[in-house]
Amino acid sequence: MSNTCVIGLQWGDEGKGKIIDVLASDYDIIARYQGGGNAGHTLVINNEKFIFHLIPSGILHPGKICIIGNGVVIDPGLFLEEIAGLLKRDTGELGNLFISDRAHIVFPYHKELDLLIEKQKGDSMIGTTGRGIGPCYTDKIARSGIRVAELYHKEYFKEKLKKNVEEKNMLFNNVYDAGSVSWEKIYDEYCDYAEKLRPYVRDTVELMANAARENKRILFEGAQGVLLDVDFGTYPFATSSNAGVAGVLSGLGVPPSQVHKVFGVMKAYSTRVGSGPYPTEIDGELSEHIRTRGGEYGATTGRSRRCGWFDVVAVRHSVKINGVDSAVITKLDVLDDQETLKICTGYRSGNRVYDNFPADLNVLTDCEPIYDEVPGWMEDTSEVRNAEDLPRDAIQYIQTIERYLGLKIEMVSVGPERSQFIRI
Ligand code: GDP
Ligand code: IMO
Ligand code: MG
Repeated sequence: MSNTCVIGLQWGDEGKGKIIDVLASDYDIIARYQGGGNAGHTLVINNEKFIFHLIPSGILHPGKICIIGNGVVIDPGLFLEEIAGLLKRDTGELGNLFISDRAHIVFPYHKELDLLIEKQKGDSMIGTTGRGIGPCYTDKIARSGIRVAELYHKEYFKEKLKKNVEEKNMLFNNVYDAGSVSWEKIYDEYCDYAEKLRPYVRDTVELMANAARENKRILFEGAQGVLLDVDFGTYPFATSSNAGVAGVLSGLGVPPSQVHKVFGVMKAYSTRVGSGPYPTEIDGELSEHIRTRGGEYGATTGRSRRCGWFDVVAVRHSVKINGVDSAVITKLDVLDDQETLKICTGYRSGNRVYDNFPADLNVLTDCEPIYDEVPGWMEDTSEVRNAEDLPRDAIQYIQTIERYLGLKIEMVSVGPERSQFIRI
């Protein structure tokens, strides 16, 4: 029996959704533990594309239980939209989808505040997804947030909402020179959501405890990536949750003994959306070429993703913190037409060489990456399904990364389709 946590080892969008979908058939439960509508997890099945923001990426496997844990911040409108989208596409029953009664709720004022804060930051903006994530987690930590269970106590909910809206309106009016929002409108809207959410709401802590007792196999689905983690990422150019394995415990209420394996997902190169330091970023034509070949446009906001070379220093940091057991390299096919490839093995800053990921943003911003340049394979890998059929130089590339990271790569993804992967 082995419960597996799937996490992104870079700046998100590594292909976690696809990998969760591929692995899901071997598990009973697929559970999200952090993040919210900022996530965009893409699945492609027989040319049909699905993008999930809140719903776990195991949902297309009939009979699997999908759980959205207490650590996720839930935008009920977005959640219901996702459900409506699935029902319209006739993908099967959603009777096994549950959300935690302890999860915090994203309100319209969180989204508005997200945008206002960004606007005020000007050039130093984070480039958030605008989904209200930071402000919702801020309220959670400040102990003024509203949780799913509270929606069902109308008078209590009304009073708490009124107070929160009053406080936010003071900020909007006095700090951001913006108009007020009306609590009445939000109250009506959210009372309606509460009824629509009711069939999905559970004490998911109990569900997880029962699952452990019954030896059910659990797949924990990370969102974002470790380099966006609020503690270990490129803070403050980060998200507001723990995207690594640490988030599982607080975001689902399971004990550490329930996480048996940590499986990392990393692209064969790297991407990042939004601002922040990015030592291996590529400029100009090559960046555009990779962006086009890799379809590197945000699944949530449609923004162009910045593209760069594979960064061993950054990924090793993610591997170390999370005790990653093994990994998958995704999007190998995107590099099929590169004559040579660069792998960053260190950063040079002044007289110093870093082979550990520095906390200091000034170092990260100004450092020069040290590259190992390796030959490309110049062959189509998208149809390859067996490791022995991979081009020799592609195997070399994978093994070089394995060696630098000291990590076993057990799977390679060579296209967006569910079937496009190789076990090695
Ligand atoms: P996630 O947030 O980690 O789930 O990743 P996203 O879904 O945001 O971004 C990954 C993108 O790459 C999606 O468009 C996927 O369909 C696509 N994708 C996933 N794996 C592969 C792969 O191996 N090759 C190619 N070409 N595309 C892939
Ligand atoms: P998935 O799960 C890539 C980035 C945003 C921004 C920063 C903070 O699809 O990998 P936020 O809205 O969270 O306050 O934004 O984090 N970001 C992501 N980048 N993939 C994601 O999720 C992301 N979720 C947030 O672009 O730079
Ligand atoms: Mg994504």
